[in-house]
Amino acid sequence: MPDTRPLTIALSKGRILEQTLPLLAAAGLTPAEDVQKTRKLMVGGTFAGEEIRFLIIRAADVCTYVEQGAADLGIAGRDSLLEYRPHVYEPLDLKIGRCRLCVCGPKELVEAGAPERGSRIRVATKYDHLASEYYLAQGVHAEIIHLYGSMELAPLVDMAERIVDLVETGGTLRANGLIEETTLCDISSRLIVNPASFATRKGQIQPIIEKLRQAVEQSDNG
Ligand code: PRP
Repeated sequence: MPDTRPLTIALSKGRILEQTLPLLAAAGLTPAEDVQKTRKLMVGGTFAGEEIRFLIIRAADVCTYVEQGAADLGIAGRDSLLEYRPHVYEPLDLKIGRCRLCVCGPKELVEAGAPERGSRIRVATKYDHLASEYYLAQGVHAEIIHLYGSMELAPLVDMAERIVDLVETGGTLRANGLIEETTLCDISSRLIVNPASFATRKGQIQPIIEKLRQAVEQSDNG
């Protein structure tokens, strides 16, 4: 039986949304309402004359909605994909939301040198797995202190010696007396697709991927 549910696309709230909307518009994916203003979490729209719908959710939840099949497609940061490792396809780098995942700390601590093998440190982050893996590879015993945001505060109140967080302009680090120690990886937003949706709704999903691919190429050249 064909799936008659409108094709569903999960979008990340926050900073990325601002950069996502022009890309969606260029690809012909049009929300029926201003998704930056509405308090609705599900908004209708159209693509090539067909009804679709958008979910407006937290960045970290996009992976879950797409992995569960509640959304067929989603726009997720590479940071979330590396941290949560959802079982999804990742057909396209959208080249928005560009930043980097870094280890940072107070200037004087970072300048004193990286923690020695066998030493203990406290690391504040929302990327528990990525931070643990990094320090395991360094041979450093890292106590991971999970936070949901504003990681830069943790060293200022002596709750952690390092943070693992996204850095875009570096403004938040500077404002809080922190500097980068190491870049773990470059980040950008990716289009993700539920594998079962891709198998059963390829005729609907493939044109969206192609239109978004063209939109990315155009904006990258422009
Ligand atoms: C992100 C990130 C840093 C900041 C980096 O937080 O976690 O705190 O942006 O950007 P910058 O290098 O340009 O200063 P965001 O503002 O998205 O909020 P959050 O702390 O709630 O995650």
